[in-house]
Amino acid sequence: MTQSAEDFAVDASVAGAPSADGVWHRCHLLPDADPANAIRDAALVVEQGRIAWLGQQAVLPEAYRGLPHHDAGGAWITPGLIDCHTHLVYGGQRADEFAMRLAGASYEEIARAGGGIVSTVRATRAADEDTLFAQAATRLKPLLAEGVTAIEIKSGYGLDLDTERKQLRVARRLGKAYGVAVHTTFLGAHALPPEYADRADDYIALVCDTMLPALAQEGLVDAVDAFCEGIGFSPAQTERVFDAAHRHGLPVKLHAEQLSNLGGAALAARYRALSADHLEHLDETGVAAMAEAGTVAVLLPGAYYFLRDTHLPPIALLRRYGVPIALSTDHNPGTSPVTSLLLMLNMACTLFRMTVPEALAGVTTHAARALGASDRHGLLAAGRGADLALWRIDSPAELAYWFGRNPLAAVVRQGRVFFGPASSAPQEFRDEA
Ligand code: NIG
Ligand code: FE
Repeated sequence: MTQSAEDFAVDASVAGAPSADGVWHRCHLLPDADPANAIRDAALVVEQGRIAWLGQQAVLPEAYRGLPHHDAGGAWITPGLIDCHTHLVYGGQRADEFAMRLAGASYEEIARAGGGIVSTVRATRAADEDTLFAQAATRLKPLLAEGVTAIEIKSGYGLDLDTERKQLRVARRLGKAYGVAVHTTFLGAHALPPEYADRADDYIALVCDTMLPALAQEGLVDAVDAFCEGIGFSPAQTERVFDAAHRHGLPVKLHAEQLSNLGGAALAARYRALSADHLEHLDETGVAAMAEAGTVAVLLPGAYYFLRDTHLPPIALLRRYGVPIALSTDHNPGTSPVTSLLLMLNMACTLFRMTVPEALAGVTTHAARALGASDRHGLLAAGRGADLALWRIDSPAELAYWFGRNPLAAVVRQGRVFFGPASSAPQEFRDEA
């Protein structure tokens, strides 16, 4: 059977995609986000789906010269991008709520009136697993088409055991179908389900004593998150969730300081959280606590933009204390219905005044750390799995510069090659040996 590049377009399922094994030549490498470490006129060797060697093409070891060659056509190769905070699996959409906000209602007012997260809970409970999978796949594909090779997906639109399980199962299935590394996060403490109105503590007991133990036991949970906010859960309730997570040996992360300052980031730091996310209202005490604990600050410019927020996260303080900053889409139907991680790079620079290397670290090395997966993702290095993004650009800064334009030529996920929109000549990545 003859196969064309179209068969292996970037959004195709993993089955049958060609192997990336061999020598990738005529390329430049950005092994981490630091421009000082860039390698021009480079080669990168993949063996059995892992990076075996990388360096200047001129010094490619003799032992690799006989392997099949893939001509990268002058592409820049970065680690596959990481979207470290998403709510990708849910039913329906909330365009009407967007209209209500445009007419003057606030996000909190809509939530308190029974809309917001709870309206997505109704749609998610009503959808069957295959429908949720199909809908989430349509949102995953544009991310894959931008070189994403690892993604975090949260539950939190079920708020009952069966629906939270359904969401997490769909997340795992997406990972298998598309060959993307999916890290699941249990976000049972996202909102109060209507059947628990005025009984938040009882609901937290259900989350801690029933839902989390069952889902963890089924291998569906890699980390645990909560929404610590006036319209979410209190710091005391968040602590109960974190205690339960630690009883199951699971790391925690937190939606903190998004709409107000409840001291969530400092609380998360006390629990050695992988990350505290949003952080528009974070203060210096919280920053210091995060720095001390090594907790990553995950900033979400899509939510900041879409809620027309004006309260900037404290970037200067985060820099001063050396807190690693990650960036993510926060894809969700209420506050950030965005399906472009590259756009988040651009917005982090324009809205948050981050530098291009900071933004690139935010979707590679620091995002890997926010997943607790620095040993697997976010870096090009010998011995690592071959998760690579190949870009048709002259300079890495273009990744944050263009918006609405996708320069991905190809992506290697789990050692398999998929072709991106900027793959002008499909045969250029073919074996030449
Ligand atoms: O990350 N803030 C809490 N959770 C989501 C929004 C969820 C929703 O509105 O559906 C967020 O912004
Ligand atoms: Fe979120």
